[in-house]
Amino acid sequence: MIRLDGLEIGFNRKAVVQNLSLDIRKGEFFTFLGPSGCGKTTTLKAITGFLVPTQGSIHVNGIDITHMPVEQRKIGMVFQNYALFPTMTVKQNIVFGLKEQKWPKDRIRTRLEEVAHLVNLTDEQLDKPITELSGGQQQRVAIARTLALNPDIIVLDEPLSNLDARLRKKLRGELKRIQAASGVTMVYVTHDQEEALILSDRIAVFNAGAIEQVGTPHDIYYRPASEFVVDFIGEANRLHPSTVARLKQSNADFELHSRERAYVRAEHVKERIPERLAADYYVLDAEFEIEEFYGLNVKRIFRVDDEQIGCLSNEVDPAIRRGDRKRLYIGKSDLIRFTDRHAP
Ligand SMILES: Nc1ncnc2c1ncn2[C@@H]1O[C@H](COP(=O)(O)OP(=O)(O)OP(=O)(O)O)[C@@H](O)[C@H]1O
Ligand SMILES: [Mg+2]
Repeated sequence: MIRLDGLEIGFNRKAVVQNLSLDIRKGEFFTFLGPSGCGKTTTLKAITGFLVPTQGSIHVNGIDITHMPVEQRKIGMVFQNYALFPTMTVKQNIVFGLKEQKWPKDRIRTRLEEVAHLVNLTDEQLDKPITELSGGQQQRVAIARTLALNPDIIVLDEPLSNLDARLRKKLRGELKRIQAASGVTMVYVTHDQEEALILSDRIAVFNAGAIEQVGTPHDIYYRPASEFVVDFIGEANRLHPSTVARLKQSNADFELHSRERAYVRAEHVKERIPERLAADYYVLDAEFEIEEFYGLNVKRIFRVDDEQIGCLSNEVDPAIRRGDRKRLYIGKSDLIRFTDRHAP
């Protein structure tokens, strides 16, 4: 539905997005995920028309919109800072676009009811001045205003970033429900990996103006295409050469090319395994250092030679003390390997 082809976008002759190609399907919840400054907002602005790429093209449903003015694209937008009209009521904000488009009064009224219902705004809230609403409620209004015009595509740039953690979780669940119910194609920008994994049908992981990987949350997590992706998503231990040497000692069939780098996710480092599965694991002798308690789970940090290895578990170990010797087990199939392009 949305096709980005060889996009390059620059400021002052310096490209901040290079050779970016991407296909977003109709009805998809598609997320741009990446660290600050990697070009997510810039790419989104090219889709909405606020920026014109220096190279490449953007098509929507086969139509070239690369140079089409913003207002002709009919793409809905939701921003981090809500961008509502402060002197209007909630209702006036939501119907503003419909009035601009000269919708008849009764259709405006039904559409208002529909979208208010979708985003859980009450009749009482609809009559309030926008400034009397909390951040979460204001973002609901911004979403309702965008939905009201019934766009095929809605882009959202970090829409939940200004909200507290609890509200963020609640609203992201609602966003997913709204998207599923309306069938609208959503392009969502976040630097929050958890949000991306939970919400998305597919994710594009951005790094320094380029895409590292496009895939389902499951793909991105379990089959990361690059060291950047494995590092950015989830919690992975990069195994130092000295640790790799110990894995080799523990198991004769261990093979790792000198140019390969190995990672293991913290939840795949085990403190015990069933005896009968011993052949499937590598073993590391480690020393316990410190524990980080997260509630739902706990991360124990161990030392192997001079390197730290994190182990995520859902069991607390009340007996463990700093300096305790432990064996750690890493499943052979849990090693994630990359060929190091920079090695000699
Ligand atoms: N108007 C501008 N003029 C010059 N440089 C810009 C402009 N807008 C963005 N940039 C630069 O382009 C790069 C990408 O910025 P962008 O806003 O797309 O990042 P982002 O991925 O959205 O980051 P964040 O998560 O912090 O919002 C950055 O290096 C930024 O400094
Ligand atoms: Mg941004």
